[in-house]
Amino acid sequence: MNKLKEKIRDIPDFPKPGIIFKDITPLVKDPVAVRLAVHHLLHPFLERDITAVAGMEARGFIFGALVAWELGLPFVPLRKPGKLPYDVQSVSYDLEYGSATLEAHSDAFETGDRVLLIDDLLATGGTAKASCELVEKLGATVEACAFVVELDFLNGREKLEAYEVHSLLHF
Ligand code: PRP
Repeated sequence: MNKLKEKIRDIPDFPKPGIIFKDITPLVKDPVAVRLAVHHLLHPFLERDITAVAGMEARGFIFGALVAWELGLPFVPLRKPGKLPYDVQSVSYDLEYGSATLEAHSDAFETGDRVLLIDDLLATGGTAKASCELVEKLGATVEACAFVVELDFLNGREKLEAYEVHSLLHF
């Protein structure tokens, strides 16, 4: 895991002063590191009855699509508002200032789908919690959530206490 951790670059004061941004672009630029990350993300689920993978826009698409590809399962993008062309369901959630919304097509899942949610980062947990609610609103269940990076000091895991949560790297 140290090899992966070395590929996460700290960018101070982005997107605003006082925030240290965890930049995953060095990781995704390295095919060996990407393969390692995807391997570790999906490994706990190889023997599980997952039927679909969902990823949160935008960086969750990178890892989520690769995990879905490796597992041979459908990939569902959970998108920021106004991007999807067909009927959508949405879930809104609070941010520090304001709110955000995630959307998915109303036919994104089959009833009873068991979904693995994938994102690059668990911070406050707002995005992941809303994603779980969206999956459930669409008639599927959340089997687990898996992240490349978890910022432990933001306690996002507490928002996800009803769910199984895996993270590869902790800061
Ligand atoms: C980042 C990250 C997660 C989310 C985590 O996405 O990729 O999706 O924030 O934060 P939270 O746990 O506090 O909700 P961002 O909204 O920056 O979108 P992007 O991937 O399009 O840059």
